[in-house]
Amino acid sequence: MQKIITWIDERFPLTALWESQWGKYVAPRNFNFWYYFGSLAAFVLVLQIITGIFLTMSYNPDAAKAFESVEYIMRDVSWGWLIRYMHSTGASMFFVVVYLHMFRGLLYGSYRKPRELLWIIGCVIYLALMAEAFFGYLLPWGQMSYWGAQVIVNLFSSIPVIGEDLALWIRGDYTISDITLNRFFAFHVVALPLVLLGLVAAHLMALHEVGSSNPDGIEIKKQPKSPVTGLPLDGIYSHPYYTVKDIMGVVVFLVVFSIIVFFLPDMGGYFLEANNFIPADPLKTPEHIAPLWYFTPYYAMLRAVPSMMGTQVWGVLVMGIAVLIFFALPWLDRGAVKSIRYRGGLYKTWLALFVVSFLILGYLGVVPVTVWGQFSEGVPILATADKATVVARVLTIVYFLFFLLMPWYTARDRTRPVPERVR
Ligand code: HEM
Repeated sequence: MQKIITWIDERFPLTALWESQWGKYVAPRNFNFWYYFGSLAAFVLVLQIITGIFLTMSYNPDAAKAFESVEYIMRDVSWGWLIRYMHSTGASMFFVVVYLHMFRGLLYGSYRKPRELLWIIGCVIYLALMAEAFFGYLLPWGQMSYWGAQVIVNLFSSIPVIGEDLALWIRGDYTISDITLNRFFAFHVVALPLVLLGLVAAHLMALHEVGSSNPDGIEIKKQPKSPVTGLPLDGIYSHPYYTVKDIMGVVVFLVVFSIIVFFLPDMGGYFLEANNFIPADPLKTPEHIAPLWYFTPYYAMLRAVPSMMGTQVWGVLVMGIAVLIFFALPWLDRGAVKSIRYRGGLYKTWLALFVVSFLILGYLGVVPVTVWGQFSEGVPILATADKATVVARVLTIVYFLFFLLMPWYTARDRTRPVPERVR
């Protein structure tokens, strides 16, 4: 074995790559629960690519055959049902994992100097992931695929001046059609997976350049070296320590994943919507159109913003800024410390308010529009602002205040001193 490795090393930096990226990568020794989700995200990405390749072998991106070909995968292709449920569950679990990974960033200030670029690359990954999920959802050509895409692409037409042309350009037709399906398929199976893989590689290179942070927010690179190991006092090699930890994470993840795939593949309509088991019908709009759960906080914001000056563009703008504002985080946080462990009540309170708003907005984005209006014998009582709309508006404001007031409350927060060594 050693001979083979030496032979390769003389021709390709195999050992050097392994050691710099993982084997001899020195990480803080106090990673906790929240540090599982980076490696899990990478695991799910690989899972999606592999199951996606197998689905593509039997899927047919033709508006007349797409729905049928998915049914064929489910009923006739050997193990097709398993591959499809793994892929659809994998999509939702990808967002679960990435949301938890991002939340860790908020908990421990992982986006702070010197990790700003690492965070920004992460934000671009998040955008690419949203695009990947959106394109993928059109492919089964069910009612929700069709009408969901219709609603989202139509949002572009609310942009002044260029909007209509832009929406037409995206669809390649006047409505969502076979042409749209073909291009979404190309983006979903080729373009975006490549972009995602490239971005994840850049994300990891940036991480290994600056080094990992940790739940205490102590920079281990600045610590004195241990006379015994030659490593920073609180540093350990990723291999074997975090190899074992991450494998343990993958095993627990697979248990949860399997329970969903085998017992709850539609997750009560949250992972696969009931309406999407009906073939797309361009002549019949479903009563209730909602995106999958991972988009619903933003969808609720979109619905909460009223049309003004005869245009819907304000809602689209609010929704767009709500996603893009994550990019600004490294420059909004003026806290004296990074980790929540040493922050004061102000940051903790705002973070809690932010999380609660995000979750409730997510719920409000799922519920049908009819719940949003209060009716008395079929007549709307409050035509413009029913209770749910008011709640969504308040929560949208709280969501934005978390970011916009951050320079103020983080600077005034009563922080505690960060210790020299990790706990
Ligand atoms: C496909 C998606 C992603 C993959 C595969 C991925 C992978 C990873 C891995 C393996 C790590 C190191 C282990 C860990 O700290 O958990 C990491 C760290 C990090 N990621 Fe991601 N990530 C993804 C998405 C994101 C997103 C969406 C963001 C933020 C918007 C983000 C921000 C960060 C930050 C700030 C760190 C450094 C954390 C620290 O050192 O404390 N990542 N990522």
